[in-house]
Amino acid sequence: MIALDPSKIFDHAVEVLKENDQGGYTIPTKGLYPFQWNWDSCLTALGQSHFDEQRAWTEIETLFDHQWPDGMVPHIVFHVYSDGYFPGPNVWGTGRPVATSGITQPPVAGFAVRRLYERARDRQMAEKRAKALLPKIDAWHRWFYSHRDPRGEGLVAILHPWESGRDNSVDWDQAFERVPTDGVEPYTRRDTQHADPAHRPTKEQYDRYIWLVQHFRGLNWDNAKLHDASPFQVVDPGFNAILIRSCADLADLAESLGEARLAAENRARAEAGLAAMNALWSGTHGQYLCKDRVTGALIDSASIGGILPVFAAVPEDHARSIALTVERQAAAAKFIVPSHDPADPRFEAKRYWRGPAWLVTNYMIADGLRRVGETAVADRIVQSSLELISQSGFAEYYDPLTGEPCGGHRFTWTAAMVLEFLRLMKS
Ligand code: GLC
Repeated sequence: MIALDPSKIFDHAVEVLKENDQGGYTIPTKGLYPFQWNWDSCLTALGQSHFDEQRAWTEIETLFDHQWPDGMVPHIVFHVYSDGYFPGPNVWGTGRPVATSGITQPPVAGFAVRRLYERARDRQMAEKRAKALLPKIDAWHRWFYSHRDPRGEGLVAILHPWESGRDNSVDWDQAFERVPTDGVEPYTRRDTQHADPAHRPTKEQYDRYIWLVQHFRGLNWDNAKLHDASPFQVVDPGFNAILIRSCADLADLAESLGEARLAAENRARAEAGLAAMNALWSGTHGQYLCKDRVTGALIDSASIGGILPVFAAVPEDHARSIALTVERQAAAAKFIVPSHDPADPRFEAKRYWRGPAWLVTNYMIADGLRRVGETAVADRIVQSSLELISQSGFAEYYDPLTGEPCGGHRFTWTAAMVLEFLRLMKS
């Protein structure tokens, strides 16, 4: 264990959040990500709530101000012009009044808003703002089940790896091979100008990311068509667990606010999702696996996407196995939780979501483990996260073998999670 000065770390984290604050939304980091990102903002709001409650609500409200008429909440809102990011608004071509991307991201808003509401010091304000967000989050959840689960399986599919929030995970490799690269318009990547190319997705992956964007743009971003027209349809257990948790949390919130119908609908979504998740369990790996919806087969890839389901109310024996899996990984990696199992030859310690540890996933996993009483493992994750901060600062992600900081620096959601962890340590 290393010496931490929690008050200094707290102040430093607040500083990072303030310096990335654009007024009504926060950019993930300067340079690499100059706009508003969906799940970054929802998790960032939790951090902001520790020093500016009003501002925390605004972060999520701004995101929902850009919700699509069909209910989707886009993964990026391009509030201001910047040529520092590719693919920018013209490549997406979504035709929204304020430009947005055309895909979504892990729906963590229901969870975040419930947390904001519960911890609110200003109860009246929280009630008013939660009430206004409630139907919007519900519309997003409804959108998921009608457009991403068209055959009513109980689980939703992602149609682009970026939707998962785990952009270049090993999980997508096989299904991604079905995505062609012909006809991709010439482009210049900007991410590799801000971060080490060896830590970023490869050129071939990038071509496929862009092919999918062009394909969906060619269908005018009509969500009634995209699912069946996509060669990439993957059921990600981590993504679904976040949605399930958000549905359950939104149901609780709706109940406290006297919205019985919304509560019942979200409760039913969570229950159907939990029942369907069982089919993704792998006893061999001691975690859940993704499913390729095009072939119907499970994807043999032990990524953090299959550990994240502990964030939802999965069966207790599965949660306990996941705790053991994290412990096993802790014997192989100095810092947990790696985004891919270090025992798998496809693990890459520094490449984005193919091995590095991220504080946001740590936060959700620790929260879930705590809920089922696995406090020792949860504490270990929190400790590991704070050690990374002391050793390497507020990086985007970290090499789990050495703790080396990778990707962008002074990263917003990393700082937000630190504030949450420090609060957890106190409670
Ligand atoms: C990367 C991450 C994604 C995140 C975004 C902004 O694309 O994979 O999860 O939302 O950066 O931080």
